[in-house]
Amino acid sequence: MNISVIGLGKLGLCTAACFASAGHTVYGFDLNDHFRSELKSRRNPIEETGLTDLLESAWATLHIVDSYEAALQASDITLIIVPTPSLPDGRFSNDYLVNVLDGLAPALKAKNGFHIVDVVSTVMPGTCDTIFKPLLEQATGKRCGTDFGLVYNPEFIALGSVIRNFLNPDMVLIGTSDERSGSVVRELYASTCKTLPAMAVMSLINAEITKISLNCYVTMKISYANGLAAICEQVPGADVDVITAAIGADSRVGSKCLKGGLGFGGPCFPRDNLAFQTFAEEFGAEALLGKAVVAVNNSIPERLFKKVSEQCVPPAKVALLGLSYKADTHIIEESHSIILAKNLIAAGYQVALHDPTAIDAARDLLGSNVIFFNDMYECLTDASAIILLTDWPQYRDLDWKHIATLTSSGALVLDSWRIAKKAATPGFTYIPVGVGNPAKDEAL
Ligand SMILES: NC(=O)c1ccc[n+]([C@@H]2O[C@H](COP(=O)([O-])OP(=O)(O)OC[C@H]3O[C@@H](n4cnc5c(N)ncnc54)[C@H](O)[C@@H]3O)[C@@H](O)[C@H]2O)c1
Repeated sequence: MNISVIGLGKLGLCTAACFASAGHTVYGFDLNDHFRSELKSRRNPIEETGLTDLLESAWATLHIVDSYEAALQASDITLIIVPTPSLPDGRFSNDYLVNVLDGLAPALKAKNGFHIVDVVSTVMPGTCDTIFKPLLEQATGKRCGTDFGLVYNPEFIALGSVIRNFLNPDMVLIGTSDERSGSVVRELYASTCKTLPAMAVMSLINAEITKISLNCYVTMKISYANGLAAICEQVPGADVDVITAAIGADSRVGSKCLKGGLGFGGPCFPRDNLAFQTFAEEFGAEALLGKAVVAVNNSIPERLFKKVSEQCVPPAKVALLGLSYKADTHIIEESHSIILAKNLIAAGYQVALHDPTAIDAARDLLGSNVIFFNDMYECLTDASAIILLTDWPQYRDLDWKHIATLTSSGALVLDSWRIAKKAATPGFTYIPVGVGNPAKDEAL
């Protein structure tokens, strides 16, 4: 198929590369001149696992163009993947999307034949029917559903695994104004994905609600496990991992996203939860569960802070391992590590930070209030408390005997994911999150 992609950022460029490497002809446009010139020179401006390699197999059919018109004219379907930042009330802004639709409208008006406008960016429920459809109909004089199609086709991907998630989805969500557009998008994904996913084809409004509801459901599981971890910590012998492993084995529940540890962060989950609540209230309903999920999530940095303050007082050195909101990404948006770092700084602790990829982003946010280390052992030297935060693989193989020579005896090791073990950390005050003291099953 001939496809155009507007917005070649973290999600857009991966999407364009996946379609092109599957053999589709893709015309990409981004307002960012630097991105376009890098891409025209076949250089990858986006940091994402596997993207540079994938682009190698995509360049032959991935063309970078310089206008909305060129993109739309050359293609039968235009995917729009631009930012929809959150507004103070939790809703998503449509400003970028409206700019793109305004830019596409003259070419859509002039085009002979049916064209599909496919919005991939996350939007508030109701946006396609009440804002985008009238905008395009008025600007083009054409009728949605007969002269052009409008599709809402959001992705369920996680940064760091965008390409794997995109090519191997459990489900492709397709909200559509008409049957024809739904069939074309279904065929586009069927011919691109490595597995044949479930195709959920529905109305625009149902797809819009599905998108944020699904993310809210996932965060509910995460908060459930984290709430359970908080309870287990208070109960001698209780161990959240033992319990969630059993709960997750029940097929009604499932094991994914059911691990007590740090809360959820990143660019999607926290904001989708707030948007869901705002959306519910707009329609006179209340997202009670969503509020509880957010409350559990917000309590986690404070819980960690309390454990540190019970063991050591300012200005003791506290070393934080892991800053990104999850492993395999440098993104620190809404990361609990960053919230904890800020709380510790405010309380007067000396804060030392290590992360394999996120230091530059964290430096911009935390500035000179903390010390950043590229070497994790240097970061831990003289620390009174070591907090294992992001679950990076390199933190699983720490040499605790060596660390014991760098820190004072009895230093606190607070382990969010239980990746070190009490037995491996003799001489430390080892506190695993989600485990009541004394732990029982570790000795079994
Ligand atoms: N990144 C994720 O993990 C993720 C996951 C699911 C959904 N989404 C959604 O996808 C959308 C895009 O997210 P992203 O992370 O790729 O954003 P991003 O900021 O990485 O990329 C957006 C790109 O759009 C370009 N752009 C902005 N205005 C433009 C315009 N008028 N015309 C052409 N290009 C324009 C920017 O230059 C930028 O390159 C958002 O709605 C987001 O919620 C993102």
